[in-house]
Amino acid sequence: MKALILAGGHGTRLRPVTKVVNKHLLPVWDKPMILYGIEALRDSGIKHIIISLSYVNPYGFMELLGDGSEYGVHISYLHQREVRGIACAINEARHWIGDEPFIVYLGDNIFVDGIEPFIRRFTSSGASKPLVLLKETETMDEARRYGVAKFQGSEVSKLVEKPSEPPSQHILLGLYCLTPRFFELFPQLKPSGRGEYEITDALNLLMPVNYGVYEGMWWDCGVFKDITEASQFMMVKGEQK
Ligand code: DAU
Repeated sequence: MKALILAGGHGTRLRPVTKVVNKHLLPVWDKPMILYGIEALRDSGIKHIIISLSYVNPYGFMELLGDGSEYGVHISYLHQREVRGIACAINEARHWIGDEPFIVYLGDNIFVDGIEPFIRRFTSSGASKPLVLLKETETMDEARRYGVAKFQGSEVSKLVEKPSEPPSQHILLGLYCLTPRFFELFPQLKPSGRGEYEITDALNLLMPVNYGVYEGMWWDCGVFKDITEASQFMMVKGEQK
């Protein structure tokens, strides 16, 4: 199964650094952010990774990662033409992915305890129904920064992007196990109020979706505070080895 890592976007919340460096090449403790995703996918048995890039020095990735053989995977690169949201970026990769189930990994996410059980669950159930990962936040306020799940009983009935009034404290993490139906339904999507093709809207079209709850440490390294926290955590983890 192929995986797509999204490593484009504008990196606006990390300006001015991201005017000259792609966010996903910034260090999180002792290695570039993008390597956490590559290693998590490789350790889950993924052999072919497509990296979608859209801004600032794409050659830095090629210098760092090459064809991926140093990291035990095969890497292809894709240039995202339009920066119009996560769902749009996934859709632009459709010819690289083909007509088969696939994994999408947001390049600024770090899953400290890996993702293998979730990918295994998706593949062993025949990969016929999408699977997303949720995590319970400590406060309702924290949930406002993310996609948030609304439940009906124990099922996810809807996902809402950055709601001012979150319907739960279960946020959507940056790992989506998807089916090619995504590409069939994409033309039905309309841009949101902020002009983006939202992943939450795409997942709502794909309902019902399965979900797993991630209990481990996780970061979305979209702001300096989270990069710093993740780096400190990795430093202490490394010292304890
Ligand atoms: O991290 C989890 C959250 O990620 C989810 O809870 C949200 O539902 C989801 O929309 C996303 O929210 P963010 O505000 O963190 O998205 P961001 O714009 O930072 O983009 C996430 C990753 O995708 C980041 O690594 C950059 C990449 N990206 C983003 C866009 C919009 C692209 O490669 N191309 C794009 O066009």
